[in-house]
Amino acid sequence: MENDTRTTDVEKRKRVFSGIQPTGTLTLGNYIGALRNFPILQQEYDCVYSVVDMHAITVRQDPAALRKACLKMMSLYLAVGLDPEKTLIYFQSHVSGHAELGWILDCFTYMGELNRMTQFKDKSAKHADNINAGLFTYPVLMAADILLYQTDLVPIGADQKQHLELARDIAQRFNAVYGDVFVVPDGFFQKVGARVMSLQEPTKKMSKSDPEETYIAMLDDKDTIRRKIKRAVTDSEADVRFDPENKPGISNLMSILSVLSGMSLEEITSVYGTSGYGRFKDAVAESVIEALTPIQERYNQIITDKAYLQKVMTEGAEKASYISRKTLGKVRRKVGLAALQL
Ligand code: TYM
Repeated sequence: MENDTRTTDVEKRKRVFSGIQPTGTLTLGNYIGALRNFPILQQEYDCVYSVVDMHAITVRQDPAALRKACLKMMSLYLAVGLDPEKTLIYFQSHVSGHAELGWILDCFTYMGELNRMTQFKDKSAKHADNINAGLFTYPVLMAADILLYQTDLVPIGADQKQHLELARDIAQRFNAVYGDVFVVPDGFFQKVGARVMSLQEPTKKMSKSDPEETYIAMLDDKDTIRRKIKRAVTDSEADVRFDPENKPGISNLMSILSVLSGMSLEEITSVYGTSGYGRFKDAVAESVIEALTPIQERYNQIITDKAYLQKVMTEGAEKASYISRKTLGKVRRKVGLAALQL
């Protein structure tokens, strides 16, 4: 395949790419919608997972806190079971190809397309004092992340679907002009749990930028998890059944339990349907604790091993740079940027 830039040992495997912003706190939404799938995919695919630190600076960050958050993010990648021998893990800002391809793709993206992005509208409402150009062109950088690695599959939550669609549109537009340069990526979404909702306003997605009680953090302790789920907003009925429109709170908790326990929604209704919300909520809390506790234990060990983190970070950056250079070289040639002969 002419457009295949993968190294020979993984030629037959499809490529997966995803990224998570290092913001200090990851939620159960990030875990269920995306992160949980990362190690599952690593068995079958050639996976590349990035700590997307350049995306994080679209909102103001405390520099020391951001550096720490990047290491925490990488530790969580490792704690959920990603194996750096099988999977590429690196920081986005360590591979300059992201910014370079981002600029080139900016020139293949229309203002009207970016104006339609709902996340831009939400974020500019939240950060009205800092509506910078990076926040606006952020989806193009995300497209560059994905297209740089000739990605087949992108595991993400439902809130990123619009951005993925844009990445596909940009890839197809570019390919229509220059031939098959980019693989056009598909999304990989959870059937249940692609959109984990706020515990306090279950018609809104669970988000780390909302108040504490609305989300479960991946590093919350057991009592905090129990307390937050106990206080989760439900409704005045007493039956546990999946009806997102009329019972968004209960339906959200059912989705969480279903993903984490492997029970189907029907099974959950048959086991907890009429036994009251208290018993059901206890089961949800215990399933979250059971899923997160082993990750937290591994995380607490990994985060203290600075030498190991440094090694994963450095090796990841080298491998990712190598792959990205191939795509970028081709893109540069296609658009007519002269090669530098040294
Ligand atoms: P971010 O960092 O906001 O979130 C990381 C991942 O978590 C998913 N997610 C959710 N899934 C279900 N329910 C929720 N409540 C929930 N909240 C978050 C997100 O969909 C995402 O998959 N722009 C991306 C990061 C990114 C990226 C990429 C992703 C940058 N470049 C390239 C994939 C490929 C973002 O801000 O995700």
